[in-house]
Amino acid sequence: MASQEILGFLVSGEWVSGEEMATRLGVSRAAIWKQIRSLRKRGYGIESSTKRGYRLAKRPDILDAGLIRLGLKTKWLAKDLRCLSEVTSTNEVARSIARDAASGTVILAETQTRGKGRLSRSWTSPPGGIWMSLILKPKIPLAGAYQINMAVSVAVSKAIHGVTGLAAGIKWPNDLLIREKKICGILTEVSAEMDQLDYAIVGLGINVNVDLSGFSEEWRTTTLSNELGHDVSRSELISRILLEIEEALEMMGSRELHEEWRSRSVTVGKRVRISSASGEFVGEVMDLAVDGALLLQSGEEMKRVLAGDCIHLRPLEAA
Ligand code: BTN
Repeated sequence: MASQEILGFLVSGEWVSGEEMATRLGVSRAAIWKQIRSLRKRGYGIESSTKRGYRLAKRPDILDAGLIRLGLKTKWLAKDLRCLSEVTSTNEVARSIARDAASGTVILAETQTRGKGRLSRSWTSPPGGIWMSLILKPKIPLAGAYQINMAVSVAVSKAIHGVTGLAAGIKWPNDLLIREKKICGILTEVSAEMDQLDYAIVGLGINVNVDLSGFSEEWRTTTLSNELGHDVSRSELISRILLEIEEALEMMGSRELHEEWRSRSVTVGKRVRISSASGEFVGEVMDLAVDGALLLQSGEEMKRVLAGDCIHLRPLEAA
């Protein structure tokens, strides 16, 4: 018997007697007690009472695949879910197994020593965050890969709101901001054969309960715990994110998903500076096209920008 089965009984937070668990699992009460002890050692706050049995009073903020699975309602995503302690980068780990892994495999780590951001930047990944990579193998052309980013950014924004009540807006193309400060970054790396997508590794970095003191000043960053004044259960947030991602991936290519992405945008209507392969432009963002392009009014010209770095400007900086 695994402690996972005991957690299955206790996860509701109600009292459950040792006898009931022992009978239902077909084991002795001593075996139940042994598992309770091991769960306590792993940080689970389990109260006991001779009359009522056991009750889960506090879950530790550790990444435990078993605990995440208990709250997971997906049909196919994260059927293979691995929680690691320290890795270089979850995207790297995912890439090393991607060829043989099932679509929907998820890699999580407590910390990363060489977390990667977009545009070859590094990504600070101390304990308390969600550092997660998904291996996805949708049958879409390479040119449609932007839809994955669209789906994932919408999904994470919805999940953060659902779990914490905080509004995390999407900064084009796929950062999430709370009050103009970055809460989540997404790095998607693809492998393709001819022009068909072979697999995509979608890496998500979310500052949940991390200590910001190790972050460089130049980054306008916040954390969910900072915004709320208390810690957030990473397991609950991860389960919700995965469910929202599964649902959003099933909507890829739809008008509805594009509308969701557009309506959650905090870039539309802003003055921005864009650095892209074709140069640097300042202008006002008029809209977001169905193919993910940003429509920028720059002087007399209306530009379509498909990829690049975007900085939101305050009205005066833009002048
Ligand atoms: C960005 O620059 O905004 C994207 C940051 C993506 C960070 C995540 S953390 C999990 C995954 N592993 C990495 O090395 N990077 C991504």
